[in-house]
Amino acid sequence: MTQPIGRRALLGGAGVVALGAAGGWWWVARESSDPAAVTGAALVEPPVHTSTGGLLDVRLVASEEVRALAGSDVRCLGYGASVPGPTLRVAPGDTLRVLLVNDLDEPTNLHVHGLQVSPTGASDDVFVSVAPGQQHQYVYEIGEDHPTGTFWYHAHHHGSVADQVWRGLFGALLVLDPAASARTERVLVVSDVTLAGGAVAGVTRHDRMAGREGALVLVDGQSAPEVVGAPGTVERWRVVNACTSRYLRPLLSTVGAAAVAGAGVVARDGRDLASGLGVGEVVVPPGGRADLVVPVGQEDLVLTTAPVDRGAGTGGTAGGGTGGMMGGASDEQPSTLLTLRATGPGAPPSSSPATTAPPGPSGTTAPPRDLRDVEPDRRRTLTLTSGMGQGMGGGMLFGIDGRTFQAGRTDHTVTLGTVEEWTLVNDTTMDHPFHLHVWPMQVLDGGEAPLLLDTVDVPAGHRVVVRVAFDAFPGRTVYHCHVLDHEDLGMMGTLEALRP
Ligand code: C2O
Ligand code: CU
Repeated sequence: MTQPIGRRALLGGAGVVALGAAGGWWWVARESSDPAAVTGAALVEPPVHTSTGGLLDVRLVASEEVRALAGSDVRCLGYGASVPGPTLRVAPGDTLRVLLVNDLDEPTNLHVHGLQVSPTGASDDVFVSVAPGQQHQYVYEIGEDHPTGTFWYHAHHHGSVADQVWRGLFGALLVLDPAASARTERVLVVSDVTLAGGAVAGVTRHDRMAGREGALVLVDGQSAPEVVGAPGTVERWRVVNACTSRYLRPLLSTVGAAAVAGAGVVARDGRDLASGLGVGEVVVPPGGRADLVVPVGQEDLVLTTAPVDRGAGTGGTAGGGTGGMMGGASDEQPSTLLTLRATGPGAPPSSSPATTAPPGPSGTTAPPRDLRDVEPDRRRTLTLTSGMGQGMGGGMLFGIDGRTFQAGRTDHTVTLGTVEEWTLVNDTTMDHPFHLHVWPMQVLDGGEAPLLLDTVDVPAGHRVVVRVAFDAFPGRTVYHCHVLDHEDLGMMGTLEALRP
């Protein structure tokens, strides 16, 4: 999937993120101030709002309040009563209306991550700023041909994206055919956070440069919750990586550490895979999603995430004072995300009658065009860059092609109806997950079957080649690193799609 680019290849490993390496200086845990997380409680998924008659009309109030997080009362941000916010469930062809009400004391806005919708007007325009006390009516027209799958929404106000997501402003968004999902489905929104004194902990400048990672890894706001599954059924678990910076490597086993026959990854980033992958083969960068099929047998199952080393290279160049950041939890053990208790035969009647549906794609939309066979109309190279800033405070500057983000500057112009090939070059010593709004990217060398992603990991010192069909939606939008601290620090650019 990736190719080394010279001297840094050694640091980047074999083209994939290495497992289990000790975390670098940035792997920070705040000792002592973390309350013990309550683990093992029954999973409570966020409330679900489902469209009816082609319309879902919801009001999301972003507010700072005390909510349940990791089993305790925590002052945090959120949409409504829970973190994550409600799961929004729509179908292809629907209209999704979201009235975003800003009850915070800072500006915010909303992004529907991965949706192929217009980036302009009342739709997915991330240049919108909703001031404190104000509201904004979003209207998303979801095409009849929109892929069905797992998406999500989160705050996207440049400069505070990482802080607002870290503190709770995210939720799941499903595009599903109303008739297509009979088996037991679970929405598992994974986030990480550090708590201190009944609130969400703040972070240091160094945490921002490295990309913060929380001491707790939560599923639907809970620490290592449990679910009950019926033996003989097959479940679909929709895993959303809503962490601000943490990469996930999901692993599924029995509690006795045995492999789970028939388990696999059947979708990535809201698009069904033509052929499934093993659960341990997939790394989900921040922003990404993976849908798992989980056959339930007689044994209890556990879903964990193994640590992923995404490069500690900033340690050498971030200037003095990093020594104190060393140590912490080096987190070499996998974190438990979820335990499934397999109840004996005849135990709980399943709430879904058709839970024995075989695993496999649940989508009903046509497979996308395979861009490997298309001669690109245009080729571009985008280089992810970082370097030392000048002057006061002089932290690291993050950018693309050496330039930090400026909302008013258009970095690239594309023509609707064309196919482009982009070479994404990572010229730094940290991995960066590259996210393009609106149009999915097809990863070349992504394996036998076409692999479409909206968030593509570009390992340190490597390049990844993608092709993009700019087939619809004129307007201006962004691409950026989904280590959200890096995005806030400037690793973002703008793109304008023009009619021919
Ligand atoms: Cu999930 Cu531009 O973001
Ligand atoms: Cu980054």
